[in-house]
Order: sequence, then C-alpha cells, then structure tokens
Amino acid sequence: MLNDPYGFLELSPVIPVMVIDHEEDAVPMAEALVDGGLKILEVTLRTGCALNALKAITEAVPEACVGAGTVCNADDFSAAIEAGARFVVSPGQSDALFGMSRKHGTPLLPGAVTASEVMTAVAAGFNVLKFFPASTSGGAAAIKALGGPFPGIRFVPTGGISPKNYAEYAALDNVTAVGGSWMIPPEKVQARDWQAIAQLATDCVTAAESLRASGGAK
Ligand code: 3PG
Repeated sequence: MLNDPYGFLELSPVIPVMVIDHEEDAVPMAEALVDGGLKILEVTLRTGCALNALKAITEAVPEACVGAGTVCNADDFSAAIEAGARFVVSPGQSDALFGMSRKHGTPLLPGAVTASEVMTAVAAGFNVLKFFPASTSGGAAAIKALGGPFPGIRFVPTGGISPKNYAEYAALDNVTAVGGSWMIPPEKVQARDWQAIAQLATDCVTAAESLRASGGAK
C-alpha cells in the first residue's frame, strides 16, 4: 500500500490543516496543537512562508508528524520532501503525484470525491483518500454511500468540518481521520493566543474519545 497511513493516522483522529501566514507563528502554533494532543499536522503550501514554516516545525517539534498539504504538482512534492514533510496531501490527484509518492516512498493522500476518482486512485495503489471539499461534495452522506461499492477504501474528509458536524464524519466506518482548520481560528492566531489553540486541540481529542466511548467511531 503506497499510502499506508494507518501507521501515522492512528496517532491522531483529527488532522489540523495549518495555513501559516507568518513564519514566526509556525513553531508556537505546532507546539500548541501537539500540547493539545494533535500530533499529525498538515502545513498547507498556500502561503509564501509555508515551506520554511514546515521545516521549522520539523526541526523544533520532533514529536509532531508533519506533512505538506495543498500539494498540486511534482515540484511542490519535491519541495515538500526537501522541507522535511513525512507525508503529502493533495486536494486532487494526478499521475505526477502518484509517481512522486512511489519514487520517494512518501505517503500520499490523494483527493477523490467521485466514484471514478476513487477508482483511479485505487488503480494507482492508493486506498486512503482525502475527501475534499467535504461539505460541498455531498458531506458525510456521500462518504457513506461510497462505502457501498468501495468497502476497502478509507477517507479523510476536510473542508467545512467543525465541532458541529465533526461526529457525522468521524462516526463513519470508512473515515480514518478528519481534517480541518477549526481548531486554529485566524483571530486566535492573530492574537497569538496559543493557549486557546491548545485548548481547541484538546477539545478535538475529547470529542474523538467520547465518540469512541459511545461506540460511534473506530
Ligand atoms: C483543506 O485544505 O483541507 C481545507 O481547506 C480545510 O478546510 P477548512 O478550513 O474548511 O477546515
């Protein structure tokens, strides 16, 4: 399996999707998330400082498992590996990304929201897929329905997930982890209120644990 993520996804039920505008925020933000109990971090390559931020986190927060998100082509993939990404997430999929994952042995979560996209990714050897944008692609109901024809496939939904609808996704048998940015509100980042972010991360862990205890999640 080319994206055997069970090894790393089982570290965390929720993957924070980090958009870092200021490099100096990277390490304290990552520390807050890890302190709160979220150890898998996705740094999106959407900002000018993202690669430096990713590198800084890998060096300063070794207990975090840091990957790169919003990786859309082979150049991004190479740059992500060079910066220290341990896994790569893409909103979509392409032969170039599949090839880079194989060549470097770097786990890739390719994006897939339709049956055909799932089939293409599976044919390429990937059976844990990002489901993005989750809320506008049919939400939890769509993921559940994809479980019919694709019982062996696992999804990591992101996009529009919040504490309000987290359980709908996390309770599905074919959801491995849930991604999102709700635990990193921009106003808390602007205020550099890392304690608040740590608390929001803890709340994610608590929500996942209570869902598990109620039998609603794996
Ligand atoms: C992603 O890149 O996975 C999403 O943009 C995260 O979505 P959210 O900000 O709605 O949580």
